[in-house]
Parts: sequence; C-alpha cells; structure tokens
Amino acid sequence: MSAVQGASHAPHTIDWPDVSGGVPDEMPAMLFREFGPPEVLHTETVPTPHPGPGEVLVRVGAVSVGRLLDLLARSGKHPYAKFRFPHILGADHAGTIAEVGDGVTNVSVGDHVGTFHVFLTGEDEFTRSGYGDISPLVEILGTHRPGAYGRYVVVPARNVHVAPADIDPVMAASIVGVGPVAVNQFERAGGVGPGSNVIVQGATSGLGATTAMLAKHLGATVVVSSRHESKRARLRELGFEHVFDAVDERFAAQAREAFGGDGAHVLVDNLGAPLVWEHGFDVLRPGGAVVSSGAFLGHTVPLNLQRTYTTGIRVIGVRTGTPETVEALWREAERGFRTVVDAVFPIERAPDAHHYVESAENVGRVVLTH
Ligand SMILES: NC(=O)c1ccc[n+]([C@@H]2O[C@H](COP(=O)([O-])OP(=O)(O)OC[C@H]3O[C@@H](n4cnc5c(N)ncnc54)[C@H](OP(=O)(O)O)[C@@H]3O)[C@@H](O)[C@H]2O)c1
Repeated sequence: MSAVQGASHAPHTIDWPDVSGGVPDEMPAMLFREFGPPEVLHTETVPTPHPGPGEVLVRVGAVSVGRLLDLLARSGKHPYAKFRFPHILGADHAGTIAEVGDGVTNVSVGDHVGTFHVFLTGEDEFTRSGYGDISPLVEILGTHRPGAYGRYVVVPARNVHVAPADIDPVMAASIVGVGPVAVNQFERAGGVGPGSNVIVQGATSGLGATTAMLAKHLGATVVVSSRHESKRARLRELGFEHVFDAVDERFAAQAREAFGGDGAHVLVDNLGAPLVWEHGFDVLRPGGAVVSSGAFLGHTVPLNLQRTYTTGIRVIGVRTGTPETVEALWREAERGFRTVVDAVFPIERAPDAHHYVESAENVGRVVLTH
C-alpha cells in the first residue's frame, strides 16, 4: 500500500447520501469520449436519468474500481464489450434510493442499498437452474448501460439489496460485486467451512482479497499468496497466518505444511499465470476443485490431465455471481463478513484511481466516492 496522491487509506467510512432535497435535472458524471489512458476520464454535466417500471434511481455514494470493467474498458482492451461514446463506467456500487419506478416493492426512497451490477434481462435454462451468470441474457452495469461513475444511476430494483445497518457505502460497494463471485466459487466447488483447506492465489487483488476474507470468515484454513514481501506483510496484518509467494518453488511444500500435511480442498486462481497455476495444482487433494473467475495474465495454463482424472480433480469456471449468491453474500454480511478496502478516492480523482489499480500496489479494493 503506498501513499498515493488523492487517496485516503484510512478511515474509509463515509455517510450515506442524503436524498431529502429531491433529484436535480442534471448531474455530474465522470465519463470518456475515446479510449486511452486514465486521463481520458473527465467530468461533464448530463441529464439525470429516471427509472422506468421495475427500476430504481440510486444516488451513488461509492463505486468500486476493477481491472476488467474499469481499466480494460477505458483503455479499449475489453475482450468483448462494444462501447458507444460518451460512456459512463461504474459497476458494483452503493448509495441511497432516490426514486422508485412503477411496481417496485422491495425498496423505498431513502433506503441504503448495494447494487449487484450483473443484470438478468429475462429467463432461460441457465437462470432457471442457478447458472444465471453464464446466460446470454446478462447485461453489465457500466458496460452495456451507463454506470455509477455518474452521481445518479438507474438499475433494476431486483439488483438492489438493503445494506446491513452497520455498513457504510464504501464497504457495501466493496463487497456487493465480488462478494457474490466469491460465494459462487465456493458453492460450485462444493462448499467451504470449518475443516476446509483453501488456497487463494493473488489474494491481494480486489476479488482475491474478498475471496480470502470470505474463506476466513467461513472458518476455513486459508493459504494466501502474493509475489511481494510488502504485500505479504499487509496480508499478515489482516490476520492471514499462512502467506507465501506462489511463484516460489517451495510454495507447494509450504502450503501442505500449513494444512497439517494435507492438501487443498479448494484452489482459487483468477490469474492465468502458468507457474502459479502449477504450484497451486500440486497441492490439491483427491477430489479437490480449482475455481477460476479470471485469467488476466494469460488465457492458457498447463493441465496435468493424468493427475486430474486419477485423483478426481474438478476444474470449474465461475463467470460471476447469481441472484442466489447475492442473497447469500448479504446474509454473510449480516453475520459480520467484510472485505479489505485499500484506498478511497473522490470521483474527481478517478484517473489517479485507475493509475493506482494499474500499478497493482493495492491490497484489496479501490473505491471512488461521489
Ligand atoms: N469474474 C468476475 O466477476 C471478476 C471480478 C473481479 C475480478 N475478476 C478477475 O480477477 C482477477 C484479478 O482482478 P482484480 O481487479 O481483482 O485485480 P487487481 O486488484 O488489479 O490485482 C491484480 C492481482 O494479480 C496479481 N498479479 C499480477 N501480476 C502477476 C504475475 N505476473 N504473477 C502472479 N500474480 C500476479 C497481483 O498479485 P501480487 O500481490 O503478486 O502483485 C494481484 O493479486 C482478474 O483476472 C479479473 O478479471 C473477475
């Protein structure tokens, strides 16, 4: 963690936005009109949107910054999305309900909510079987629709959830997007709890830190990794006992020792780095599962097929969260689950926040506040 200009590293708590003054006709939005470096992001005044039937208007308090949906999207390197300019980024966020559309019954004006940014626009075989994350009907806020870098954002009412009373917008925005992914990873791996041995590679990343914190919260024995001693020290400060360098040849032996000589039930690898993959794979116990929700370092890793079939190892791709895992995330938040917030930037400093995430100095989530 570095003292980056324009960021606050602690405390991160902010108030929920006050909507008692009504909704203005226009709002500031951090947007971009061409792909490029973080400096293409700038503030313009745009008309405030209003909710249609089944939708709500959120006065955004905080919005998180991630690699794919923010950095790659802004630089023009997003692997599949098409953008029309001007474009407003901003996916997982938290704020106060400012308006509700016709037919909305789950929330009211003034409620403090977190918004899961993956919208299901209909029903199909995937949504009906709990695999909505891989449905072609998925739309992502800040990718397919204007996002929460605008001060107000319209979202489907079913994607918002009232946050626990003791949580602030920064923490709510930090868990609402990646928390359901972490829950989904563990559920599809067969469940994680006391007695589970879990490895989280790249545990300093926004998603990785959240997954590691969830494993700890659920009572598992957790091995986490980072390449840098300064970031490993931060992970130890956060309460992780078994912190190693996954690139180091000793990683498998160290992880086994941490598990009392046993292997891992679940290996989380969202990276796509061949050596990290191989060192983690070596530690899996028979019947164990590798789960992945990202591969930003490369699309191909070596798979020992002999070992995979003879020891019944499962390799599971998890695209994102689902309505079911969003519900589960908020239940765990009520029971005290929190993630790691690394840095908070005011929205006007969005370019600095993008540079900071790009530098990979963070340990945990990076958040913008409105
Ligand atoms: N599917 C989803 O919904 C979803 C959501 C969020 C993220 N993701 C995915 O999760 C991954 C992390 O994204 P993020 O936004 O959370 O990232 P981030 O905060 O920018 O963190 C980057 C991570 O990558 C690690 N790393 C970087 N270069 C590495 C290398 N050469 N070898 C090994 N590790 C390396 C860093 O570990 P060190 O500590 O070693 O520097 C750090 O943990 C990406 O693949 C992303 O697409 C998926």
